[in-house]
Amino acid sequence: MPAWIKDAIFYEIYPQSFKDSNGDGIGDFNGIIEKLDYIKELGCNAIWMNPCYDSPFRDAGYDVRDYKKTAARYGSMEDIVRLFAEVHKRDMHILLDLVPGHTSEEHPWFLESSKVEENEYTDRYIWTDKWFHGAQGLNYIAGEAPRDGVYVLNYFKCQPALNYGFLHPEERWQKGIEDPACVATREALKDIIRFWLDKGCDGFRVDMADSLVKKDDENKSGTSVVWKDIRRMLDEEYPEAAIVSEWNKPQVAIPAGFHMDFFLDWEGNGYNLLMRNVENGRNNSFFYKDSDRSVLDFFEEYLEKYEQIKQQGHYCLITGNHDMIRAAYYLDVRELKLAYAFLFTMPGNPFLYYGDEIGMHYQNLPTKEGGYTRTGSRTPMQWDDTENCGFSTASADKLYLPVDKSEDAPSVASQEKDKDSLLSMVKEILAVRNQEADLRENANLELVYAKREERSFAYRRGNLLMFCNPSGEESVIEDFGLPDIREKVFAVGEADFVNGAYRLGEQSFVMWRI
Ligand code: GLC
Ligand code: CA
Repeated sequence: MPAWIKDAIFYEIYPQSFKDSNGDGIGDFNGIIEKLDYIKELGCNAIWMNPCYDSPFRDAGYDVRDYKKTAARYGSMEDIVRLFAEVHKRDMHILLDLVPGHTSEEHPWFLESSKVEENEYTDRYIWTDKWFHGAQGLNYIAGEAPRDGVYVLNYFKCQPALNYGFLHPEERWQKGIEDPACVATREALKDIIRFWLDKGCDGFRVDMADSLVKKDDENKSGTSVVWKDIRRMLDEEYPEAAIVSEWNKPQVAIPAGFHMDFFLDWEGNGYNLLMRNVENGRNNSFFYKDSDRSVLDFFEEYLEKYEQIKQQGHYCLITGNHDMIRAAYYLDVRELKLAYAFLFTMPGNPFLYYGDEIGMHYQNLPTKEGGYTRTGSRTPMQWDDTENCGFSTASADKLYLPVDKSEDAPSVASQEKDKDSLLSMVKEILAVRNQEADLRENANLELVYAKREERSFAYRRGNLLMFCNPSGEESVIEDFGLPDIREKVFAVGEADFVNGAYRLGEQSFVMWRI
């Protein structure tokens, strides 16, 4: 495990929407450089930047046309290398987004692979052997390439699946994972990884990391072979490089070689429950004041996985990401404060999605670059109350996406002046996380109090004790034998220990040192 991962706090940057430095309406590398001090002052010491490679942008850059070239709209190779250096100058780290499962249909490999004549890339993608033979239950007729076959998709139609083979090949066109063509794909992936690590990035967030090997790879043993191989290469050649998987199964992803895995928002799961849970049309997210949910529905799922992998890797909690509805759609500022206080004091590496620190709102917008319902969570960062919220000097119609023009649109500038703002609270809790050895060193998590019929709960990390009451009423919990409290380290709302009981005011969160 690279040493820097232990206390890394990540900030996710969607490059097109963060900061435009040259007035063309789209965020760029130089804009990010301008805002590195802001990210650092927030308390984050690491960055995950969404794809920034050459692309036709049919899936916002997750359709890569050239892995080794930056998208011109974000800047040049010199610019991104300078970004890496500026990040490191500030003692920070940066992950790029690696898309191993598919490319754009405009990638030169795919263009070659589409040809009738056999060539080096014929088997770089998965093709059936007849133009009317679909693959993997996908019965469609591709019919765009001269090649007599149908290619397997990984996500959108514009994203053909790279060929890492089949765990149990059955058809003639299905290759085993150790077939030279599949090994060649793996080597090509290593080549891309080396290329960017040599340029100076610190690792990768890996897109759809579980999607590589096809057909009955249920326990992902085939895909795990690929990642173990990649991890071996990293350990040997780049021991300081880190990889985090978009997988949502740490008990599989960590043993497969990832240092970290995300708890992602899948409807009905424990993470979804915290901030985005709607039941029968009604908000019933745990941190919503009037919810009737117990936190046990989160913890039962979380702890089962956490306990399995805590010695080898990190299970990471996020405020949101570019694929999900912003939490502020479901929670007000006070509720967000409690949710973030919780997320930022849990084990693993927290990931803060840009704009969530000020509670940016979800916008109702038509789709952009394959965003669909995700588009509304990808709008320009709201820096201040000047033109375009300080995101860009372009005219409003030139912006990548419109800025939030509502009266109550939050901004960094206004919240910086307000000590009760969400932004101020985020800074405070991240400062605590950075200072407290138990949080920094990833001390063990123990759920010390949680009941089915109660909203309040408590957990412990080393000598820190956290209580949270998300409800609108005071809650009193009788002493149940924990060590004495020595001092209050952090609080949202009122909380005290008096007359042998913990008294938690309405909508409160407290951290005590014991
Ligand atoms: C991941 C990305 C998402 C993208 C998809 C296909 O889920 O987070 O944005 O559309 O993979 O690459
Ligand atoms: Ca720009």
